[in-house]
Order: sequence, then C-alpha cells, then structure tokens
Amino acid sequence: MTSIDRYAVFGCPIKHSKSPRIHQIFAEQTGQVLEYSAQEVPAEQFSSAVATFFANGGKGLNCTVPLKELAWAYADKKTERAQLSKAVNTLALLTDGSILGDNTDGIGLVTDLAANHAITLTGSRILILGAGGASRGIIAPILEQSPQAIVIANRTIDKAVNLAVEFHDKGSITGCGFSDLKNRQFDLLINATSTSLSGQLPPLPEDLLATNGVCYDLAYSNEPTVFVRWGLENQAFKSLDGLGMLVEQAAEAFFIWRGVRPKTRPVIELLNSERKHTYNTLTS
Ligand code: ATR
Repeated sequence: MTSIDRYAVFGCPIKHSKSPRIHQIFAEQTGQVLEYSAQEVPAEQFSSAVATFFANGGKGLNCTVPLKELAWAYADKKTERAQLSKAVNTLALLTDGSILGDNTDGIGLVTDLAANHAITLTGSRILILGAGGASRGIIAPILEQSPQAIVIANRTIDKAVNLAVEFHDKGSITGCGFSDLKNRQFDLLINATSTSLSGQLPPLPEDLLATNGVCYDLAYSNEPTVFVRWGLENQAFKSLDGLGMLVEQAAEAFFIWRGVRPKTRPVIELLNSERKHTYNTLTS
C-alpha cells in the first residue's frame, strides 16, 4: 500500500495561513498527488512536533513565525542561503533520512519583484527598513542582483550596522538609523520591520522615494498595510505587499520537494482578486 505524500506548515498562530490552499492549487496544476495541512505548533513543542511529523512519513515542512530560527537549528544540512539568513522556512526529507533546511523567502521576494512586477534590482538604490530576522533572510538574494547599494535602517542602530557588516563582502551595504535617512532617495523601499502587524509605521522622511520608486511590504493583509498606504500617498510607481512573495516562496519550496515548478501568476491573481483592493496588479 502506498500512502499519500504529506507536507505541512507549522507556525503559531497558523489559522489564517494561505499555504495549504496555495500548495493544493500547485498540486492540482502540476498533477502531483500530495496532502498539505497547517498545524499550530508553539516554539516549545517544535522539536518534538517535527520529529513526530517526519517519523510518521512526512516529506516536507514549511515553518513560519516564530519557528524559523528553530527550524534552522533543527536541520541536519543547510543550503548556503539558509546558512546566511540564520532562518529556515522549508525543511525537506532527503533520501538518506537527513533533513535539509532551506530559506526560500529571499528568492521569493526577488522573483516577485523581477518576474511579476518587472522591477529591476540591478543598479538600484535599495532601502531595507528593519534589521531583524525578516531582513536577514532577504539580503543575500538581493545582493546577488547587484544593486548599486543597500542601506539598512533600523530603530536600534547597532543592529542595522552589525547586520550590514555581516554581508559587506557580498556587495555595497551599510546600516543606519531612521534619522540618517534625511535628504536621501531610494528606488526601492522594503519594509521588513514588524510594524505592519501592529498598524504602525517607522518614521520616514516624505522625499525618501525617488521618481518612479517602488514600495514593498514583506507583510500582507486583506487591506493595504500602513506601509503600502504610505507608498500610495507618496506617489510610489508601485506599492506592493508580500502576497506575491508568499506565493513565490511557496513555489520554490514545492520545487525543492517535488522537482516541479508550478505556475505562480494564476495563484497570485486569484488571491489578489479575492481582496477588495487591486494594488498588487501584476505587470504583463
Ligand atoms: P522578524 O523576524 O519579523 O524580522 P524581529 O527579528 O523581532 O522580527 O525584528 C523586528 C524588526 O522590526 C526589528 O528591526 C525591529 O526594530 P528593533 O531592532 O529596533 O527592535 C523592528 N520594529 C518593531 N517595532 C518597531 C517600531 N514600532 N518602529 C520601528 N521598528 C520596529
């Protein structure tokens, strides 16, 4: 008897996760037979929950807040991008029984920007707001695109400076505080702080966005986030949230597990169409 391949997303909270739906659509689209569920796992139960999942025939896991650092520590082997980001959002059972940890968030962001929105990162001036785990996960994949420079601005300045130092051998990257942003302009602003979740906004000078500049919030919501609204109010060429990144990081995980690349645009368009606002429209 062959049992169906099982996958899941672990997180806390997890009730509103769109991942089971996204992976189900990917599976139907590519003719893959699998099951994907969501499981609420608090941090203190992470190790035992993962061990149980794989012991019972699980093939792969996604891990979200607050479990990405724990997943990083759990993995037997890690990809280079996971190693650098010190966080893992995808675990995969390898044929030798060991567990591979990867981080598909950064490549998910880069793919959404470049493939879905035709935004060029090469040669551009990029500002990343925040110096926590979400920022760390996206820096290396962005630097691979050879931007002119990345600036990380953070409330706690030391964290921004130290994070920039960690990546300085991979490209032009510096750290600073929000007050150092006066009279500076950027082509792309990425909000990687956790402020959207609480409806707040870091203090931003009004002239921060260059002409045709783009805003991107790593968070997503059924309503425009405060940062997306800030972009719209400040004449951003596009002001996007992280829904496309969510679908793209899922597609990358699906590829790691199944060796097949699903089509992401129809899924992003479907999830977008279910929202009241149409600010994430893809570039054709
Ligand atoms: P995540 O894993 O989502 O990145 P994190 O590692 O806790 O979460 O990092 C949260 C980020 O949001 C940090 O950069 C944090 O700034 P500090 O390092 O100064 O704490 C930032 N952040 C959270 N609340 C903020 C606020 N009200 N204003 C500005 N930045 C905020």
